[in-house]
Amino acid sequence: LRHYLSIDGLSRELLTELLDTADSFLEVGARSVKKVPLLRGMTVCNVFFENSTRTRTTFELAAKRLSADVINLDISTSSTSKGESLFDTLRNLEAMAADMFVMRHGDSGAAHFVAEHVCPNVAVINAGDGRHSHPTQGMLDMLTIRRHKGDFAGLSVAIVGDILHSRVARSDMLALRTLGCTDIRVIAPKSLLPVGIEQYGATVYHDMNAGLKDVDVVIMLRLQKERMQGGLLPSEGEFFRLYGLTQQRLALAKPDALVMHPGPINRGVEIESAVADGEHSVILNQVTYGIAVRMAVLAMTMSGQKTQRQLDQESEA
Ligand code: CP
Repeated sequence: LRHYLSIDGLSRELLTELLDTADSFLEVGARSVKKVPLLRGMTVCNVFFENSTRTRTTFELAAKRLSADVINLDISTSSTSKGESLFDTLRNLEAMAADMFVMRHGDSGAAHFVAEHVCPNVAVINAGDGRHSHPTQGMLDMLTIRRHKGDFAGLSVAIVGDILHSRVARSDMLALRTLGCTDIRVIAPKSLLPVGIEQYGATVYHDMNAGLKDVDVVIMLRLQKERMQGGLLPSEGEFFRLYGLTQQRLALAKPDALVMHPGPINRGVEIESAVADGEHSVILNQVTYGIAVRMAVLAMTMSGQKTQRQLDQESEA
């Protein structure tokens, strides 16, 4: 890997290597992560043009556990407010000898654009771009499923809620399919489904009770109001009545079903507290595994960049 921009196009072997590498960073008991010197001397820049709690913080922890130097650019107090463009902001960070950009942006394709046209010699990791892709969330979701359920073949996984605006749903569907899951269900009203959902190999359910029947994993999503135009916004009460995950509804899934959510949770909108905090919930495990997955992504991407630089130097010599 030279950059980590999307799960689209990555092989099952590579995704499995990424999960195995992440597993190797987890201590026994999986509540903490080892510190290793793999990125000593490297500088990782977190550049988040959209808000974040989990992704930004766990990327910082991951980079520090790999012994890298970390810069967190605070966009709200940066010179972006004086009109400096994305291009100039990143070129200036590159001039400070940044080795990697971990980038979140509201525009789909922003990370690809930077990797291809702005700073191709800096490793770019996509920390979420618009509604397109959130590839580290996708892989921390896969690590959570694998650690609790083992192999992906034979699992039924339901993704519920605002699929239309969710970059997590897209990354999860791509990763699940690549890793061999054959029963991927999306449960949503028509107004919250993207055109072309079939291309992800998912079966569509509009009825929550039918879609949850006998599933092994339920991934809940929040309503992404910040990406909705006024007309599309469903009322929260109506949404919860039709698509909220309650204990009663969860009883339709398998008795040992996992409940997941990428966060942030909107309690009482897509999930009730008794479920979010209940015995089936692995929502906070997802956060913990996120550190190990982001360490794996940083390490594998840096290794790919170094190999490419060596090849470039050899071909110039
Ligand atoms: N899951 C996720 O991306 O959370 P944050 O927006 O807090 O980073």
